[in-house]
Amino acid sequence: MAKEVTLTIDGQQVTVPAGTVVVDAAKKIGIDIPVFCYHPKMEPVGMCRMCLVEVGRPVYDRATGELVLEEDGSPKLQFWDNLETACTIPASEGMVVKGMTEKVQKGRKDILEFLLTSHPLDCPVCDKGGECPLQNITLEYGSSESRFDFDNKIHFDKKVPLGDLIYLDRERCIQCARCVRFQRDIVEDPVIQFYNRGRKTDIVTISEPGFDSYWSGNTTDICPVGALTTADFRFGARSWELNQSASICTHCAVGCNLTYNTRREAKSGGDFVIKRAMPRQNEAVNELWICDKGRFAHHFTDSADRLTQPLMRVDGELVPVGWDEALSLAAEKFQTAGKDLVTLVSGRLPNEDLYNLQQLTAGLKGSSSLYTQMAGGDLVAQMGATEENNLSTLTAEDAILVVGSDLEEEAPIWWLGVKQAAVKGTTLIVANPRPTKTDQHADFKIRYAYGEGAAAVESLGSGAGEAGEALAKAKNVMVFFGSEGTNLAASSALAEACGDLLTKTGHSSGLVGVWPRANTQGAWDMGFRPSTEINGAKSLYIVAADPAGDDPALAEAVKAADFVVVQELFLTETAKLADLVFPAQAQTEREGSFTSGMRRVQRFYMAVKAAGDSRPDFDITAQLGAKAGIDLKGLAPSLVMSEINAKIAGYADATYTKMAQVSEQWPIINRADLFYGGTSYENNAGLGVQLGSIKKSEVFKYTDGLELPDGDLIAVPITRLYDRGTMLSKSEVLGSHLPEPFVVLNPEDAQRVKTADGMTVSITLAEESYVAVVGTDETVPTGIVLVPRSVGMPISGPAKLEIHIAETTLA
Ligand code: SF4
Ligand code: SF4
Ligand code: FES
Repeated sequence: MAKEVTLTIDGQQVTVPAGTVVVDAAKKIGIDIPVFCYHPKMEPVGMCRMCLVEVGRPVYDRATGELVLEEDGSPKLQFWDNLETACTIPASEGMVVKGMTEKVQKGRKDILEFLLTSHPLDCPVCDKGGECPLQNITLEYGSSESRFDFDNKIHFDKKVPLGDLIYLDRERCIQCARCVRFQRDIVEDPVIQFYNRGRKTDIVTISEPGFDSYWSGNTTDICPVGALTTADFRFGARSWELNQSASICTHCAVGCNLTYNTRREAKSGGDFVIKRAMPRQNEAVNELWICDKGRFAHHFTDSADRLTQPLMRVDGELVPVGWDEALSLAAEKFQTAGKDLVTLVSGRLPNEDLYNLQQLTAGLKGSSSLYTQMAGGDLVAQMGATEENNLSTLTAEDAILVVGSDLEEEAPIWWLGVKQAAVKGTTLIVANPRPTKTDQHADFKIRYAYGEGAAAVESLGSGAGEAGEALAKAKNVMVFFGSEGTNLAASSALAEACGDLLTKTGHSSGLVGVWPRANTQGAWDMGFRPSTEINGAKSLYIVAADPAGDDPALAEAVKAADFVVVQELFLTETAKLADLVFPAQAQTEREGSFTSGMRRVQRFYMAVKAAGDSRPDFDITAQLGAKAGIDLKGLAPSLVMSEINAKIAGYADATYTKMAQVSEQWPIINRADLFYGGTSYENNAGLGVQLGSIKKSEVFKYTDGLELPDGDLIAVPITRLYDRGTMLSKSEVLGSHLPEPFVVLNPEDAQRVKTADGMTVSITLAEESYVAVVGTDETVPTGIVLVPRSVGMPISGPAKLEIHIAETTLA
């Protein structure tokens, strides 16, 4: 255990680990020393001088080393003439800190006067108004007068875009460097930096395109003034008008905790609308951060394209119909179909909806499938992350393996957690056919050929090689397995190899699926198993999945079914083929829970009113069940969760009450001040419940791995953070980040097939033709073409690809 020291701050004693800076020690006892440049997640730099305090240190006799005492027996203290910065001074035994003396107040007043010499004082129109540390600290500690000449203020042109998501107002910047340090030190995307000197010091972007990072929105939370604002929220609302609703991000398997800020708007007829998505602190999940996808993708909720009433096919057209008529028809047809009913769902759905869908399908004697190309959720349930073995608890005695995943693209916050663990000394092994950003901190990098991921993991399990030894020696091991380059069978083989590796190296937990959806693990836990086969189904109940939009072959299977019901937010390509379309409520319009890839079950709450006559999925299914004589809970998700607690293995403890519990987290943010942690929200709504492992099957049965098809160029699927999926494509603010179809290949291959970076080409993939832009990257293995998922070119696994040069044009 770290050595502890006891010091006194403003008359209160506090004991902290040696090395704790005075600002943090004060925070622990509720004393808020004002800061601008200091942030508890970053190394101190002592740049702004706002945190000035008087510091007295005990005097020790130079000759004897003994503590020198005053006449009354108390330790003699030495105070320096100068004030010191509390953010850079480590607490030491016997230290006495004074933050309320006249000298300190005068020092802080002078610092503020200096900081304001060039500040535009446009608080009435500044987006930070109401939650601005500079404004608040000035009111508390500042002077009502300035000795500086108002006309001497430096003026820049007003806001300039740093990228298309973040704007900079240079006059407001106080040069605290929090944004620059966050990008450089925390997320390692040093795409912004200081430029010029003195009063002309300016933040500039050095990337093309500007502020090219998945993390940019976080800088607006920690900027202590209104210098950085998002394109999404600026001039959108005043902070004091906003309501708060706790939620969970729906866009990857991490399950970041969010707060949606809402406000009534005239343009929505006086209804609440989401104005912004903010991080909500959960140190075991996302700390204080979220990625830009989670921050800016919420616009699917208020998209004008939302389905708002049930639709029924009449004379070949989908026409509005009442719920009762639609549900009655669905129930009658599904009852008739019996075992010929196939229910197809995606991991976009909350647990409660998945549970009801599974119960309904079983009651009708139909079969169910999870629409995904990734396997292994059953193994994750047996040996997943635990309270003791997760990213926030790993130490230098532990090890992480990331295999088959470009982690920052697929689950950005896990990339951050893995990187931070590696920086703390956890051994990091990255196995992938091509380099990714995760490699930057890897102790061991393993390259395997596409198709040989499972074999690469198996060889690690034999203990051979240094990487294998590191895993065998590690106290705890976490294995993140993804789906880069795999199909369903290969994904299954990879998951089994990872589970087996953990067992062989003497570990029973730590397996994490880098799932494509927020609740893919929940779908596994609710009993769904993956399949993209819907051929031969006579009746289809497709919920939150768009197979026809993803793949023309699946569109044919949907068309071939006798009766198709689609439950969705939008009129997707699959919905357009349906006989009945049920409008579903968005996750932001209702309550429910998701199970993250680390098997933390977390609640989300209603933020805004439902669109039109849409209903929550669990309720639609329950009403359908009622018409078919199957009793399901539909009144409230809490009732469904009670059944899940009783019936689903491992979920007994995942009650709504427990999910809503909170405990003290460090750092303490967002209480009396916003200057310390920024505008991320304190978590008052629940930290979720970490599931335990369910009974483990001892034997891993290896599925056949993957044989690459023959061909000159082989396409392999990869996942990119930004795609053109059903929900993301509705976010206008992310518009330029959502890619048109593209492929990436090695420059050697590009030259060989006479194409080049930036060319638009015609490609043939799985016998279908597409137009795509070519990118070249020398890290792509020769013979391989990377094809991103969900950008308009269906790819369910490695496939032969042809590039037709005759049809090329320069982009
Ligand atoms: Fe600090 Fe904000 Fe300026 Fe960045 S833009 S240096 S965070 S004041
Ligand atoms: Fe959402 Fe994943 Fe980003 Fe977190 S890391 S904000 S869960 S997309
Ligand atoms: Fe301490 Fe800036 S110098 S907060």
